[in-house]
Parts: sequence; C-alpha cells; structure tokens
Amino acid sequence: MGEWKVKDPSLAPKGKTRIKWAEMHMPVVVSLRERFRETEPFKGVRISAVLHVTKETAVLVKTLMSGGAEVWLAGSNPLSTQDDVAAALAEEGVHVFAWRGESSEEYWWCIDRIIEASPHIVIDDGGDLHSRIHTQGKRYISQVIGGTEETTTGVIRLRAMERDGVLRYPVIAVNNAYTKYLFDNRYGTGQSTIDGILRATNILLAGKYVVVAGYGWVGRGIAMRAKGMGANVIVVESNPIRALEAAMDGYIVTNMMKASEIGDIFITATGNTSVIRKEHFERMKNGAILANSGHFNVEIDIEDLKEISVAHRKISENVEEFQLRDGRKLYLLAEGRLVNLVAAEGHPSEVMDMSFANQALSIEYLLSNRGKLEPRVFDVPKNIDEEVARLKLKALGIEIEKLTDEQIRYLSQWEL
Ligand code: ADE
Repeated sequence: MGEWKVKDPSLAPKGKTRIKWAEMHMPVVVSLRERFRETEPFKGVRISAVLHVTKETAVLVKTLMSGGAEVWLAGSNPLSTQDDVAAALAEEGVHVFAWRGESSEEYWWCIDRIIEASPHIVIDDGGDLHSRIHTQGKRYISQVIGGTEETTTGVIRLRAMERDGVLRYPVIAVNNAYTKYLFDNRYGTGQSTIDGILRATNILLAGKYVVVAGYGWVGRGIAMRAKGMGANVIVVESNPIRALEAAMDGYIVTNMMKASEIGDIFITATGNTSVIRKEHFERMKNGAILANSGHFNVEIDIEDLKEISVAHRKISENVEEFQLRDGRKLYLLAEGRLVNLVAAEGHPSEVMDMSFANQALSIEYLLSNRGKLEPRVFDVPKNIDEEVARLKLKALGIEIEKLTDEQIRYLSQWEL
C-alpha cells in the first residue's frame, strides 16, 4: 500500500463490493482495460486527480492503473467522498487523500499532497487543481504533459486562464464532449439531484412548485425530471435564448424575485454566485427548501441567510433549519453544496461510464500527442466522442442504421 489518508480503512470490503456494482454498470470504461493492459499507454505515468471519490471514480482509477498509471487522488468537494470507496482504493495501491467532512484547510492539504507527487497528467473536476498548480504549485508545472477537466465550471475557469495567457499545459475539456454533457449533465444531474433532495427530505414532488435556477444542460435535466414527477416547474434564467427555450419547453419562466414568492423547492444550477440571496429569502414561503446542484457552494448566499436568521439548527444529516425574525423557517440542504453528491451518491454509474471513458481516452490522446499540443483548452477529439457513443450503443445492444452508398453520394451532391 502506498501513501494515503482516508477516514476508516476498515470500510474497504464494503467499498470493494460497491465498486464491483459500479463496474457492472460501466461496460465501456471496463472494456477499455483489455486494450490498456496490452498497450500500457500509462506506463511510468503519474496521474494526479481531483475528482469526487465515488464508486464510479474508482472504476476510472482502476482502469488507468490497468494501463500502468500510478494514481494520486483527492476529493473535489469536502462532503462528496464515499469513505468506503476511499478505503478500498487505498488498499488497492491508490494514493488517496480524501474523506467526507474535510475542513477547508484539509481539502487544500489533500490537493497539495497530490500536487507534490509531481504529476505528468492532471485530472480535475471544477478547476481547483489546475488553479492551485498554476499558483502555489508552480514548481511542479514543468513536468505536466497535460490535463483534463470534467465539468462546466472548471472549463469556464480554464478558459479564463487561457485568455489571461497563464495556462501552461494543454487541457482537454472532457465536459464538452457530446457523450459527456448530453447525458451526464442532463440525465445524470437531473436524476441524482432529485434523488438527493428526496433522500434528504422524503417530500412529495407531485403538485409542488419547483424553481430551477439556470437552464443549461443541468437545469434542463432537473426541470425535466421534476416535471416528470408531477411538479410545477418554474425556470429562472438570465440568458434570453435559454429563457425562451424553457418557455417553449412548457415551463413558467420568470425572475427570482417573483419565483421566490411561489416556490416550495429551489434548486440552483447556474455556476454563478448569490443566485438566491437576502431579498429572495425574505419573500419565501414558510417551509421552503433550498438545494444547490452547481459545482460550488456559492449559488445560495448562506451568509445572507445566516444574517437574516434568528435561530439555526441541524434537523437531520443533510437538512439545516433557518428561522427568520417573523417565525418563517427555511430549509437548506447539504450545506448548499452539490446536493446530488452530498445527500445521494452522485450520478448513476451508467452515465459516468461515458464521462469517464472520455477521460481515459483523452488522457491516452494527451500522452500520444506529447509535445505537439499548445497550452490551450481543447475539445475532446471527435473520433473519441464517437467511439464512446459506439461502445455505449454496443454495450446497450442497440443497432444503428448504416447509410447505403447511394445515400452517401446523395448527401455529397450540391448540383440540382
Ligand atoms: N459527478 C457527479 N456524479 C459523479 C459520480 N457518481 N462520480 C464521480 N463524479 C461525479
């Protein structure tokens, strides 16, 4: 066993059983292992990853190890680590530094451990690792061949680094692959967000007013699933095209001020800060529930909530009650952090299968193009995206139509 720090090593057997369950539902990532064992694309390669430490992440890590990688892993959120999985990975030789309930100092301490491993490849979910290595971890940067980024928020931060001319290695925006965001962001977050809210509260969604802030792929997924369970969905969106799309998708579209008075449940998925704040809390109904599904815990302004509250108590593991001066009570889930990963188990394995197949293949691509890529943010190559779709279809037993020669010719003509 290597260097590691986890909450409780005795949880390893439970973690291993859950990782096996995930493997059963991640046929694409598992199928890559055979080729990786033969070709060893990661032999001698040190990979440092900041990812949610879940059973699905374990399947990715084990797949990278099957191709020869040495993996260093830290959690990408102080509350999202599944301690049994972390224990299992430590036992299997992963240098894992992660536990549920890290303080902010501990969170960064864990990330610094995996930076000090001096990685060749960095995998990130949210941009904290990329940002840290470009600031406090500068002396390790020359060794980095390239990186990947799993999520929208991280890609936005990386594009800012690229714009400011500070990005020092090529990064593949895994988030932007079709086989990632169309499924993970939409169906993965859609389902797991509702799952987190229900596990935390066990409320009935049918007939409730659910306010979804943000109509990107995540917001679309959440709105779709809430509607499917009988909720009346209200969308709050600042982008006029997305707002119009939400309206034509059949949702009520309004601003947060108006939505505040109507909503029973508020879910943020914007990637922005202070989306729900003082003036909104002040208008909310007694009993309103607040949940966030964006990467950082900045979308619900918790400082504002504390400021206008006269009492605060935790009423169950993932529910906090805030009492306002007039006696109204508002309920914050998962401390305003990603409700799907804190109160539930994150996205189902079936969607992580595609996201993490893109990760593994993008890392292989970075290594085989070593020295050829500029320090910029790149999309996942189209052939990788299509390969992931083909492998997933095959695993699902779905056959697709093949164009005839005549049809291919027809599509290539332009004359009348
Ligand atoms: N992000 C969202 N769901 C996840 C999961 N199950 N594993 C890793 N990262 C995730």
